[in-house]
Order: sequence, then C-alpha cells, then structure tokens
Amino acid sequence: MAQEKVALVTGASRGIGKAVAARLAADGHQVVVHYRSHLAEAEETLAACEGRGVILQADLSEENAPAELVAAVKKKFGRLDTLVSNAGMSVDQLLPFIKEESFDRLIDVNVKPSFLLAKACSKMMIKQKGGSIINMTSVVGHMGNMGQSIYAATKAALTGFTKSIAFDLARYNIRANCVAPGFIETDMTSALPEQVQEAILAKIPLGRLGSTAEVAAAVSFLASEHSSYITGSTLHVNGGMMTS
Ligand SMILES: NC(=O)c1ccc[n+]([C@@H]2O[C@H](COP(=O)([O-])OP(=O)(O)OC[C@H]3O[C@@H](n4cnc5c(N)ncnc54)[C@H](OP(=O)(O)O)[C@@H]3O)[C@@H](O)[C@H]2O)c1
Repeated sequence: MAQEKVALVTGASRGIGKAVAARLAADGHQVVVHYRSHLAEAEETLAACEGRGVILQADLSEENAPAELVAAVKKKFGRLDTLVSNAGMSVDQLLPFIKEESFDRLIDVNVKPSFLLAKACSKMMIKQKGGSIINMTSVVGHMGNMGQSIYAATKAALTGFTKSIAFDLARYNIRANCVAPGFIETDMTSALPEQVQEAILAKIPLGRLGSTAEVAAAVSFLASEHSSYITGSTLHVNGGMMTS
C-alpha cells in the first residue's frame, strides 16, 4: 500500500493557511498545522482537517526554528511530501515613514524562514526521490503597491528564490512553485477602509475578492501529480489583475 502523503503548512492558524491545510487533508494528506501564537485557531484548523494531522508551534523568525520544525515533522511522520511556506506578514507604510527595523523584520518573517524550510525539507525529499515546495507570494510582488514597498520586495525575493531552487532540485524530482494570491477575503483585507476596498475591486476584472478556498485549490493542484510537469512557475490567483 502507498504511504500517506505528509504536508507541512506554515501559518495555518488563520486565513489562507487554514484553508490550505483543510484542503490538503481532504486531498488525503496528513497535515502538519503550524502556528505561531494562535493555538485555539490552530485547533480549529486541525478540526477542519478532520483529525488528519498534528499541530506544531514555532516562531519561524527565531534562529533554528525552521530546521527544528522540519526535524519535528520527520520525527512524527518520517517523511514530508509537500511544503507550503505560507506564514507571512505585512508592514504597510509609505517609503519616507518606513523604519529600517521593519525591513529587517519582514525579511526575517517572509523570506529567511522560506529559505531555511526549503533547505531542510529538500534533504528529506531528496531521500524520498520527490516532493513539492510551494511558496506563498503575492500579486503585489509582481505589480507593486502603494505603501507596500518592503512587503512587495520580500514577495519578489521569494519568487526569484523559488525559480532558482526549481533548477537546483529538478534533478531530484522535487518541484518548486509559487502561488501568488491577489486580494483575498481574510482578516487583512476586511480591515481595509471601504474606500480602499472599492478601489481594489475596481482593479479586479472578475469584480470580487477571492476566497481562501480558491487559493487552496491552486495549492492542491501544485501539491498533486496533476502538476507533475510544472516547476519554477507562479500560479496567479487574482481574478485577472495584470501582473506586469
Ligand atoms: N490575504 C491576502 O489577501 C493575501 C494576498 C496575497 C498574499 N498573501 C499571503 O498569503 C499568506 C497568508 O496570508 P493571510 O492573509 O492568510 O495571513 P494572516 O491571516 O495574517 O495569517 C498569517 C499566518 O502567519 C503566521 N505567522 C506570522 N508571523 C509568523 C512568524 N514569525 N512565525 C511563524 N508564523 C507566523 C500567523 O501565525 P499566528 O496567527 O499563529 O501568530 C498566521 O497563521 C501570507 O504569506 C501573505 O503574505 C495574502
């Protein structure tokens, strides 16, 4: 009998990560529901996974935390087929007002953990002769956005990183891709003032925000054998917004 696939989803306590975890569990994965601070929400995610998985905590910006998280997955399941590097944050400010510390913080949360997680996971995946690495980027990393210069820079960095590791890992049958959501109905977007939400909607050809389930469907595809010839790509889930 084929072994069950195992997926690690970072930032699965809320928003997009929560929907991704539930979808991968429904697809048949055992899911590692990672969270940083919201345990009760992570427990809800695990319930949505119908018990197919475990919860692990880590602040991924702390030294050694990404490698330790992957080691914990290895100890628990002995394998890892899919890494969804989804945890992230934004600092929204116009350039003259951004503090240098905010730049460092976004690199430490949005970029460095994805590098360290991919590095640690790739070692397990090489031994298994395959795997899928999916990094959550953003439409903003392709288009830019007012007040989001450093956030956009981190997401563009992740895109370049993913394209490069696709070259490094292809010989081991490990694929690396990005999912780039546009504006998705989450706590982050519902907190935006109505005027800003209207301005965003006007830029979306499909005329609505996306759902977390629609992002999760893209991740599901990239985690599955249906995407076996796709690596180094970005799947845009943005209702048709121009990305260049
Ligand atoms: N929402 C959108 O419209 C949108 C659009 C494009 C791209 N994205 C990207 O999609 C991803 C998820 O976005 P979201 O809106 O669903 O985010 P969210 O609701 O703000 O959730 C962020 C998740 O990341 C975790 N996290 C934050 N900092 C962390 C750290 N230092 N270490 C470990 N985990 C940390 C949080 O854990 P705790 O809550 O447990 O602390 C939470 O689970 C992000 O990478 C974001 O940039 C979102």
